[in-house]
Amino acid sequence: MAKMWAGVTDGNTAQIADDFNSSIRFDSRMYKQDITGSMAHAAMLGAQGIITEAEAAQLIDGLQGILDDLDSGALEVDMTCEDIHMFVEQVLTGRLGDVGKKLHTARSRNDQVALDLRLYLSEENRTIAGYVRDLIAAVTDKAEQYKDTIMPGYTHLQRAQPITFGHHLMAYAMMLLRDLDRLADCDRRTRVSPIGCCALAGTTYATDRRFEARQLGMDEIMRNSLDGVSDRDFCLELMGALSILMMHLSRFSEEIILWSSWEFKFVQLSDAYTTGSSIMPQKKNPDMAELVRGKTGRVYGDLMALLTTLKGLPLAYNKDMQEDKEAVFDAVDTVKMCLQVFTGMIETLTAIPENMKAAAQKGFINATDLADWLVKNGLPFRSAYKIAGQLVARCMAENTVLEDLPLAVYQEYSDLFTEDVYAAIDLTACVEKRISEGGTSLASVESQIAYVKEKLSV
Ligand code: ARG
Repeated sequence: MAKMWAGVTDGNTAQIADDFNSSIRFDSRMYKQDITGSMAHAAMLGAQGIITEAEAAQLIDGLQGILDDLDSGALEVDMTCEDIHMFVEQVLTGRLGDVGKKLHTARSRNDQVALDLRLYLSEENRTIAGYVRDLIAAVTDKAEQYKDTIMPGYTHLQRAQPITFGHHLMAYAMMLLRDLDRLADCDRRTRVSPIGCCALAGTTYATDRRFEARQLGMDEIMRNSLDGVSDRDFCLELMGALSILMMHLSRFSEEIILWSSWEFKFVQLSDAYTTGSSIMPQKKNPDMAELVRGKTGRVYGDLMALLTTLKGLPLAYNKDMQEDKEAVFDAVDTVKMCLQVFTGMIETLTAIPENMKAAAQKGFINATDLADWLVKNGLPFRSAYKIAGQLVARCMAENTVLEDLPLAVYQEYSDLFTEDVYAAIDLTACVEKRISEGGTSLASVESQIAYVKEKLSV
């Protein structure tokens, strides 16, 4: 098919080359950003006298018409076009005639595509940030609900010390807050305008790049034209932030999968977010959590793909860079879906406090508190640690727990022991005594919740 860019070549490319070269299948989703960018460009050309104000107005009008028609479905994207940029220009020229051909003055597809992608990803970034906020709110609500529900806290997946389910959940709220911060930081560098860098070297026309940037709600412009058209850091940063976010969701998923197993049975997922087995009638599978965990690999893969694509590229634009879009769009689509499903799953999850408490009672998770009690009663920590260890061993040998061991047995190991020790190793007391900032006591969890809510309100 003959191309708009036919000139030194006759533009009659082979069909298979067209198919291979074309990006319209995946870049047509940027039509709104492409048209908005072109409107700002036309306005600038008019304001600078590069075209007449009347021509600029005609172009803007024509572009608005295309946008409306695409939005309403009256106009369909022609998938035989090379990309969305060519499509819009082709329709514009078809509708306006020669004036349409003036739009591409002092511009190249290289700065155009960089601009479109920045505008598009900034919007997606903000949508994702909204979903992350929803998830943080859901996690924080659950934490509030279970702020005094005792469960075992683990290290090495071995029962370690008693904590509350609320405390455990708030750990994820804190991770997600950092994700929000990373997204906002990435957005700051995404909203920098490359338009006016043109093909690579800038232009001989008296353009006003800052005027265009302002029209598009961007405060900054790319300061070097080669960098302006070659930079895809904003895609990598977004995928980096999304990879970390997915890693958090994946760890959370892993715990939910474990907790909903019969071995733990700490939580119950709602039927709306579980599936049955086609053969085993008793099964209630945590598919949503498993898929989120599974899709994490795919988001990492998207990041790796683009890092690898970019690593050997000379300046400035190279066609390799067209590969940026499928990777970053896949990451964005995947994360958006995962976040929404995850939030629904958390909102409808219920804890089973009896099982959490029972598990907390079995693992000697108050042994640290036993040692601490001895320290407070005059023993150096290492000696106290040793006695506590011997008492745990005694319990194991006698198949009992520290709470049920008679005082006389305690006193075989140290004459410091009094009846008071039982209050100190009571699980609720163990939790309540952990008053250090960020600890698991009720007051601390409540202040974590307040902190997160305050962060969400700004
Ligand atoms: N479809 C291209 C892309 O996605 C647009 C830029 C084309 N530029 C060019 N010089 N061929 O990267």
